[in-house]
Amino acid sequence: MIEYDYVVVGTGVSGLSFALEASKHGSVAVITKRASENSNTSWAQGGICCVADDNDSFESHIKDTIDAGAGLCDYDVVKTIVESAPDAIDKMVNIGVQFDKNSNGNYELGKEGGHSQRRVLHSKDTTGKEISEKLILSAQSSKNIKIFEHHFAIDVVTTEKLGISGTNQVAGIYALNESTGEILTFRSDNVILCTGGCGRVYLYTTNPDIATGDGLAMAYRAGAEISNMEFIQFHPTCLYHHELKNFLISEAVRGEGAKLIGKDGKEFMHKYDPRGSLAPRDIVARAIDHEIKKTGEPCVYVDIRHKTKEYIEDRFPNIYKTCLSVNIDPAKDPIPVVPAAHYQCGGVKTDVNGKTSINGLYAIGEVACTGLHGANRLASNSLLEGAVMAFRAIQDINSVSKNTREKRNDFVIPDWTSGEAEDVDELVVIYHNWDEIRRLMWDYVSIVRTNKRLKRAATRLLNLKKEVQEFYWNFKICSELLELRNLVETATLVVNCAQKRKESRGLHYTLDFPETDRCENPNNTVIKLQK
Ligand code: SIN
Repeated sequence: MIEYDYVVVGTGVSGLSFALEASKHGSVAVITKRASENSNTSWAQGGICCVADDNDSFESHIKDTIDAGAGLCDYDVVKTIVESAPDAIDKMVNIGVQFDKNSNGNYELGKEGGHSQRRVLHSKDTTGKEISEKLILSAQSSKNIKIFEHHFAIDVVTTEKLGISGTNQVAGIYALNESTGEILTFRSDNVILCTGGCGRVYLYTTNPDIATGDGLAMAYRAGAEISNMEFIQFHPTCLYHHELKNFLISEAVRGEGAKLIGKDGKEFMHKYDPRGSLAPRDIVARAIDHEIKKTGEPCVYVDIRHKTKEYIEDRFPNIYKTCLSVNIDPAKDPIPVVPAAHYQCGGVKTDVNGKTSINGLYAIGEVACTGLHGANRLASNSLLEGAVMAFRAIQDINSVSKNTREKRNDFVIPDWTSGEAEDVDELVVIYHNWDEIRRLMWDYVSIVRTNKRLKRAATRLLNLKKEVQEFYWNFKICSELLELRNLVETATLVVNCAQKRKESRGLHYTLDFPETDRCENPNNTVIKLQK
């Protein structure tokens, strides 16, 4: 049993921002299933929101966030996060993060869908990579932080699971050392889930391979409340190309005036929304889905040909280079795009400090549902949420442990036992189930839903879950099996939440209830494991 003051799962902006702050107060273990740089954060292109221009205001950023969130944002949470942005940016700059500046020395601000002002700080079109690299360097140089790469967090251990009476409280986690196959026990009163989202439950996604809903599934199994998982954001513009399946064409490209056009070269977005190509994502993704179904074409196009080659190469070097690598020249050719799963707006339910419904268990970033995003996230609010909530969580933990946390006797978490489990004999079974989940989620639970499609998905997932559970008990744990187990759990939570919402709102659109319920206080969907 390895003991730490704080155990963090995940190395994106949330995990490492938390770790750096927590390391000022105690020892921190950071667990990640791949190398540290393999996070959703590293893939973020657009940037991070912050009011940084005299024409802009906190009120305007709050309003845009709430308008995008379609009635489900929590005003206090939005206000807190928006107003904390300048501090969060300063902390990033202090560890060396470089955001682009203009010739006057001011931040060069980008624009994205749903924003009424320019307020997206960026580092060319690889903002996440810049932030991630600087956070990793800082964490690596801290004596109080130990990063466990290639360790897969399996489950959260709680006092309830250990049969200890009193308020349910986190006791630690089990994690698989992927190099040795050994299962380690991490003991801590503070477990912080920063595992990102679940884009990989869908066949088409802009997310990296790691986005398999691990933290969400762990929290659910531990008994934490889960909220609003029906709100999966589909990014309207994922590159459509057979060689590059999940490459994003950043919304910042449309922010610089690019238009969405059909094969006929005509713009179509004004038919759907007066804001045209820069309408909020739910509207644009649905419009593209409709155009694709209507015309029978496989994709639509982002057209940035009004800008020079030099401009595109300088402002969007990664997009430019990647498109050229598959013979698309953005200066000459419209870029073929389709919508793809991009962001999980719901997650583990937390308060404004990242605290979940289990004592000592925190969730930060995409894995969490704080109330910032409501039914649809405003672009570039996510890196901001991760950074701000990391600082709030450590402050909350310190105040709670000093004042109110129950004093517990020392106890031991029993070692993991594999019993009679055998090595997985045929990985093909796991891969087959994985493909089946991703395809059925795409076919039945994506941009446009119906009762019938959701029911079909729920039935299939129930069978798959039983099968995966059997693998889990009979075979020795490996990362493929753990991901499959989390994937099926997460997909089921998306479907169950979607089935509970009897209206269309934000990212959840169903043909059976196409209208939005106009009640004053619309409900969040909340689900908890029934024991
Ligand atoms: C983008 O660059 O379009 C993605 C930004 C975001 O999802 O916030």
